[in-house]
Amino acid sequence: MQAIVFLCLLEAAFIHANVFSWGKQEESDNGGDTPGNACLTDSGSCGCCLMQQQIHKMKEFFNTTLKEMEQELEKTQTILNNVRGSRSAYSVALTNENRLKCFGPFRDDKIVTYKHIFINMGNSYNPDTGVFTVPRSGVYNLALTIYSDAGSPGNTLAACAGLQVNGRLLAGPRELNMQDQEDSATIVLAVHLKAGDRVSVNLPIGCFLCDNSSHYNTFSGFLLYSTD
Ligand SMILES: *[C@@H]1O[C@H](CO)[C@@H](O)[C@H](O)[C@H]1NC(C)=O
Ligand SMILES: *[C@@H]1O[C@H](CO)[C@@H](O)[C@H](O)[C@H]1NC(C)=O
Repeated sequence: MQAIVFLCLLEAAFIHANVFSWGKQEESDNGGDTPGNACLTDSGSCGCCLMQQQIHKMKEFFNTTLKEMEQELEKTQTILNNVRGSRSAYSVALTNENRLKCFGPFRDDKIVTYKHIFINMGNSYNPDTGVFTVPRSGVYNLALTIYSDAGSPGNTLAACAGLQVNGRLLAGPRELNMQDQEDSATIVLAVHLKAGDRVSVNLPIGCFLCDNSSHYNTFSGFLLYSTD
């Protein structure tokens, strides 16, 4: 009996077509060679045939399941790649020098070029121009902290700057007086930016920012979530 079953399985492995036709005939159940009839005449081949059908069904089941899992995995990998590809963050400071140095005042508006880089993922911030070019559309968090030092009490303090996108002012902290020697201000915004937008800090005429390696002047941005 075991030998018959084994031979039968071997045959099934080589002749798939038979397995298929048996499966079909079982459904219609009016062919002369159906398992039902085989069971009546030869119980050995009947058991073998039923096993072949079960094996075939299992193969189909696992094949379908595997295919579905592969498709799911592919989808998940695409999503993961998108998430990885959309990472964007930069954080920079005016300078890293030990001696306190001031940027400005100038006779014209000038874009502040932050030279010290904490992080610059994807190199979207350019330390030569001071411009962060948005790599992909999304909601970004932008933060600007300014600090200035008039040098001594009684001097004019002009701690002022403008956070701008494509030259358009978003927010401008401003501290102009002769009472303080030092002052600082911070703004934090969440804004919707488009790929290619240029984010920078403008230094208006007469304003000046001072810093050393204590990093009192920082400019940061990061993607909260992409919208493309
Ligand atoms: C699984 O299905 C594919 C296509 O539907 C077929 O090419 C492949 O031979 C099948 N694999 C098995 C083990 O049945
Ligand atoms: C930076 O300048 C400030 C003000 O002059 C000073 O108090 C501070 O110690 C300096 N920081 C460093 C790291 O030298």
